[in-house]
Amino acid sequence: MSKIEARVALVTGGTRGIGESISRGLARDGAKVVAVCNSHRDHAMEFAEKVKAEEGYDIDIRQGNVGNPADCQRIVDEIAADYGRLDYLVNNAGIVRDRTAVKMQLLDFDQVMKVNLYGPFFMAKAALPHFFDAGFGRIVNISSFVGETGRVGQANYAASKSGLFGLTKTLALETAGKGITVNCVIPGAIETEMSGSLPPEILQAVIDMVPMKAMGTGDDIAAAVRFFCSDEAKYVTGALLPVAGGLLMM
Ligand SMILES: NC(=O)c1ccc[n+]([C@@H]2O[C@H](COP(=O)([O-])OP(=O)(O)OC[C@H]3O[C@@H](n4cnc5c(N)ncnc54)[C@H](OP(=O)(O)O)[C@@H]3O)[C@@H](O)[C@H]2O)c1
Repeated sequence: MSKIEARVALVTGGTRGIGESISRGLARDGAKVVAVCNSHRDHAMEFAEKVKAEEGYDIDIRQGNVGNPADCQRIVDEIAADYGRLDYLVNNAGIVRDRTAVKMQLLDFDQVMKVNLYGPFFMAKAALPHFFDAGFGRIVNISSFVGETGRVGQANYAASKSGLFGLTKTLALETAGKGITVNCVIPGAIETEMSGSLPPEILQAVIDMVPMKAMGTGDDIAAAVRFFCSDEAKYVTGALLPVAGGLLMM
């Protein structure tokens, strides 16, 4: 894939887990990465220092809640003021608040929808005017296989993640032919800190579900994001791409 020098990338939740791999991958491709954290600013600053020490890239950290439209607008405005451009928006931040539907509190449903679905909408709404002005832009939404399959205890999470399919396709239609693409990556079971702390039998049950009999990595997801952001992917929009070891066949 071609170098993407001078492009500016906004990665929500870009400071840990899958988001860390996306931030590192886009920075390696030559983009200036602005990673958004929310409640763990100290961790985010340590991450930026680690990347600088290990790879030599400066990752710019901004703090804000993607579930708050004012925060999304502020972050995009700051990037436009500081860099004079915004090229890529990667909506990766996501949370879970698991309970079966009968026990789920309205707040659990509300918070998950706010971060996982409203957040990408708020961010896209703030970023799109810049993309239209520039005649270029890339939006990549990070969904989950659970948005396709559903999962016990995750009514809120599954609804938010399948909501991203409709959001992706609609934004793709509204921006088609204007140099802007909107696509969605659907991760399967991915190795993260969280999966590392699962009991071995649960982890094995997850692996057994996957046709490839292995979990994916953050770098597997980052590779798909990097493709969607690349100039080579200019004719790809409204796509939902499972990166799931065969767990989903669309
Ligand atoms: N891990 C998997 O197996 C898997 C599978 C399918 C899909 N996914 C999806 O992939 C994405 C990343 O997952 P992950 O496991 O890497 O997540 P993670 O390790 O839990 O990290 C979540 C990131 O999102 C940020 N964040 C949380 N709430 C936020 C908010 N309100 N505003 C802004 N940032 C916020 C966090 O920042 P702070 O720490 O600073 O709060 C953190 O950087 C999520 O959308 C998830 O649903 C993951």
